[in-house]
Amino acid sequence: MKDHRKHSKYYIKNQETYWDKRFKKEKFIWGKKTSECSKDAAKRFQRYPNIHKILVLGAGYGRNTKIFQDYGYDVDCLDFSQNAINLAKKFDIKSKFYKISILNMDKIKDLYDGIFGFDILHLFLTEDREKIIDLCYNRLNPKGLIYQAVFSEKEDTFGKNEVEPKTFKSRAGHFIHYFTEQDLIDSFKKFHIIDTGIIKEPENHGEFGPHIHKMMYIFAQK
Ligand SMILES: C[S@@+](CC[C@H](N)C(=O)[O-])C[C@H]1O[C@@H](n2cnc3c(N)ncnc32)[C@H](O)[C@@H]1O
Repeated sequence: MKDHRKHSKYYIKNQETYWDKRFKKEKFIWGKKTSECSKDAAKRFQRYPNIHKILVLGAGYGRNTKIFQDYGYDVDCLDFSQNAINLAKKFDIKSKFYKISILNMDKIKDLYDGIFGFDILHLFLTEDREKIIDLCYNRLNPKGLIYQAVFSEKEDTFGKNEVEPKTFKSRAGHFIHYFTEQDLIDSFKKFHIIDTGIIKEPENHGEFGPHIHKMMYIFAQK
């Protein structure tokens, strides 16, 4: 446990530097269009009454936060990269941004009716992923909704340099866990699972050029 904490702290610090540098250099890395998953999540949230306040995890420069504003929600966001938040404040002027690690999300005292995360939960080892899911559970009001979109085992990059079952270390130094559907369902066992599925996300950035992610989403209720 102690070792894991030390390791986790080192990883988070390292990743904060990585993302900060990347946002400084590449700015709006994935373009300004909102993701297909965020559109799907916003539509699903709309089907439930009494959903007013949303938290977006690992929000980056806000390309997936503005849509929740457009749907009329009160939106808070967190990211540990100050450079991402500086970009976000120009892009999404209404949301409130917390500069905080997702693993310290309990420092935010508000409770939410919905939590959205895109391309974030798979960036951690098992113990931290479990902690993040627990923290999300505790940040939600009763019957609150959660939508997480993660890398699936169907991704083209699956399968190099394994550090834990189905978790690999990328060239850039981040851990990437490639979820199976069962794995995702098991991870959210505290919640009532409403739906899971795959959504194709076309992206075009950096050395990768045009490519399509096969993101797996889970939609669940507390
Ligand atoms: C792959 S990017 C996705 C960004 C955003 N969701 C999007 O799609 O535009 C991962 C994001 O999570 C943030 N992030 C990574 N680890 C984090 C952590 N431990 N705490 C808070 N933010 C983190 C990064 O700064 C980055 O903005």
